[in-house]
Amino acid sequence: MSRSAHPAGPRHADVLPEGHYSAPAADLNVLDEKVWSRTVTRDADGALAVGGIAVARLAEEFGTPAYFLDESDFRARCRAWADAFGPDADVFYAGKAFLSRAIVRWLKEEGLNLDVCSGGELTTALDAGMPAERIAFHGNNKTVAEIERAVEAGVGRIVLDSFQEIVRVAHIAQRHGVRQRVQIRVTVGVEAHTHEFIATAHEDQKFGIALADGQAAEAVRRALSLDGLELIGVHSHIGSQIFDMAGFEVSARRVVQLLAEIRDEHGVELPEIDLGGGLGIAYTSDDDPREPHEIAKALSDIVTRECEAAKLRTPRISVEPGRAIVGPTAFTLYEVGTIKPLEGLRTYVSVDGGMSDNIRTALYDAEYSVALVSRTSDAEPMLVRVVGKHCESGDIVVKDAFLPADLAPGDLIAVPATGAYCRSMASNYNHALRPPVVAVRDGEARVIVRRETEEDLLRLDVG
Ligand code: LLP
Repeated sequence: MSRSAHPAGPRHADVLPEGHYSAPAADLNVLDEKVWSRTVTRDADGALAVGGIAVARLAEEFGTPAYFLDESDFRARCRAWADAFGPDADVFYAGKAFLSRAIVRWLKEEGLNLDVCSGGELTTALDAGMPAERIAFHGNNKTVAEIERAVEAGVGRIVLDSFQEIVRVAHIAQRHGVRQRVQIRVTVGVEAHTHEFIATAHEDQKFGIALADGQAAEAVRRALSLDGLELIGVHSHIGSQIFDMAGFEVSARRVVQLLAEIRDEHGVELPEIDLGGGLGIAYTSDDDPREPHEIAKALSDIVTRECEAAKLRTPRISVEPGRAIVGPTAFTLYEVGTIKPLEGLRTYVSVDGGMSDNIRTALYDAEYSVALVSRTSDAEPMLVRVVGKHCESGDIVVKDAFLPADLAPGDLIAVPATGAYCRSMASNYNHALRPPVVAVRDGEARVIVRRETEEDLLRLDVG
C-alpha cells in the first residue's frame, strides 16, 4: 500500500499505513464486555440497553450527543478498588478524570477518598459533602488563594510540588495556626505509557521535585524543618494508561530508597507513600487491563520487598486511580448525520458531537471502539472513521473502526470507555454545547451534569 505524509500528521495521510487497524470482529453486533460498562446488554430488539433502559429511550429523553454513566458499575469499581487495597491502604479517586457532585457522593458512600487538583474541584468536593480530611490537594502551581482555601477547609493532605510551595504552604498553615499534613511529590525518573516505560536519572517535566542530585532529599529536609508542616510521606505518579507494573516497580524502589535516606539522615521513618494513578483500561478489544486486586497485590509486594531490603517499616500505601474507575463506566451516544464513502479507502461517518466532547483522539491519537447501538445488522463490515461536526479535519472521534455497511443517517452509534477525560476535557469549540452526563441505574436515568444551552453561552458573553 502506498502512503503519503500529511503536514498535519499521520491521521491525515492519504492512505492508511498497512496494519494500522485491527481486522473487524467476527460479529459486529457483539458488544465486547471488556470495553462496555457492566450493565450494557442488547435487548430483545437488538438495541443497546444500559441499566435496563434502551438507548432509543435515552436518546429521546436526553438527546444526543450525551454521556451515559452506569452508576452501579461505577460504584462496583469503587468497591473493588477499596476492597483490593484493604484497610491498611487508601484509594483516592482522581477527580480530574471526571468530577461532579453526584460522583463525590458516590465516592463518599463507597468509602473512597478524593484527589483534587484545582480550586474548582475542591469546591465541588466540599460542596457535595466530602469530608475535608479525605481530600488530597494536588497541582504544580496552586494559587495562594487555593492553598488558603484548602488549609482553611482542613484537607487531609496537600501534595507539595515545588520548593516554593513548601514555604508557601508552611506560611499559610502557620498563619492559620495549624500544622498541615503534606506529602512531597518526587519525580523518580520513570516515564510509563501502556506497555513501555523508560527509566532515567532525570525527568524533564514540570511536575514534582527530582530525586536526582539530592533535590528530593533537600526538599524533605526543608519540609521537616518548618513548623507549619507535618510531612507524612512521599508521592510519585509515573504516567497514564499503564498496563505493565514494571514502571511502578522502579518507581517504588526509588521512593523506598529515599525513605531509607530520610531515616538515615533525620531518624524519621515517613509513614506513607503514594504511588499515584495511571492504571490502564480497555479502549478496544486489544487492551488487557489488570484487575484492582492484581494491581494491589503487585504494588504491595513491591513495596514490602523493597522495605524489607532497606530494613524499613512498610509504609501505608495510597493510590490515585481516575481512569481505571470512571473510564469504563460511560459511553457517548451520537446520532449519525452524514455518511461519505471514499471508494477503496474508508467511509467518513459524521456524528452530532466531535472533538468538543472527546478531544483525546485529536490530542493523544487515542484509540476508541464504536458500535451501532440502535439496532443490530447483518450487513458486511465497512471501515469507518467517525468524525465530528467541527470545522477542522482533525476532528476525529474514532480513527479506524468497523461498522455495518448499511449504516444510515439517524442510526445511533456509541463510543464506549469515555467516562474519563472526555466530559472533563470538553470544550465549547465552535460554540458547541457541552453534552450532559446522565447516570443510569436499575431502570432509572437522571441527569447529573446538564447539557449546556445557548443561554449559557450568551450568559458568559457579556456583550
Ligand atoms: N494522580 C496524579 C498525580 C495525576 O497527575 C493523575 C493524572 C492521576 C493521579 C490519575 O491518573 P489516571 O489514573 O486517571 O490515569 N488527559 C489525559 C490524562 C492526564 C492525566 C494527568 N494526571 C488523558 O486523557 O489520557
